[in-house]
Amino acid sequence: MKNIQILPSLLGADFGRLADEIKRAEASGADALHLDIMDGHFVPNISFGPDVVALAKRVAPEFYRNVHLMMTRPDLYLDKFAAAGAQTIQIHVEADCDIAATLERIRALGLRNAIVVNPETPVEKSEPYLDKADEVLVMTVHPGYGGQKFIAGCLSKVSRLRLMRSELDIMVDGGVNGETAVMAVSAGANMLVAGSYLFGKANMKEAVDDMRRNTNV
Ligand code: DX5
Ligand code: ZN
Repeated sequence: MKNIQILPSLLGADFGRLADEIKRAEASGADALHLDIMDGHFVPNISFGPDVVALAKRVAPEFYRNVHLMMTRPDLYLDKFAAAGAQTIQIHVEADCDIAATLERIRALGLRNAIVVNPETPVEKSEPYLDKADEVLVMTVHPGYGGQKFIAGCLSKVSRLRLMRSELDIMVDGGVNGETAVMAVSAGANMLVAGSYLFGKANMKEAVDDMRRNTNV
């Protein structure tokens, strides 16, 4: 079993205290910060842009930055997010661009890449790109908002990918809490994004420690 990585999603933070919230996530012992970029077109919500990625780099330079682009045209923004300090850039297979070329371009920028699959998208759509992808993100909610309910039916995609690739990094995002984290890891995920659950805890470190312990099976 691969080591489990835990990534608090900044979307669940108090936006009035972003710098402190980034430091709190780092101090929790989590592995990386997940930053959700929403363009108001690919998803019906707008979150934040490269300036917040740059803020994360400034206040917590050693805390790895995993950037999830929920954008119709992620290919047009790669340079901006790379310059802001993104270390992994994740693009949706449903995006309106040349997916293979965009994955390659992310690597050419010296970054890790990932392909993301929405709940209604068959996992087979991601399979032509597995040789070009460093990780696959299986969405377990419809993207756009934090605090939604985990869609357990998406875990069959995780299991299928794990059977196909024992070494692939497989992430789940959406509705992850103490219980659904265990379900996701049992299905084969090794990277867990959690927004409202972790940022909603007064003691995030305790929640991260618990999640690590409970998924270490
Ligand atoms: C959903 C985002 C998620 C979101 C998860 O569109 O991609 O990363 O922050 O939030 P929770 O963990 O609250 O479901
Ligand atoms: Zn996300």
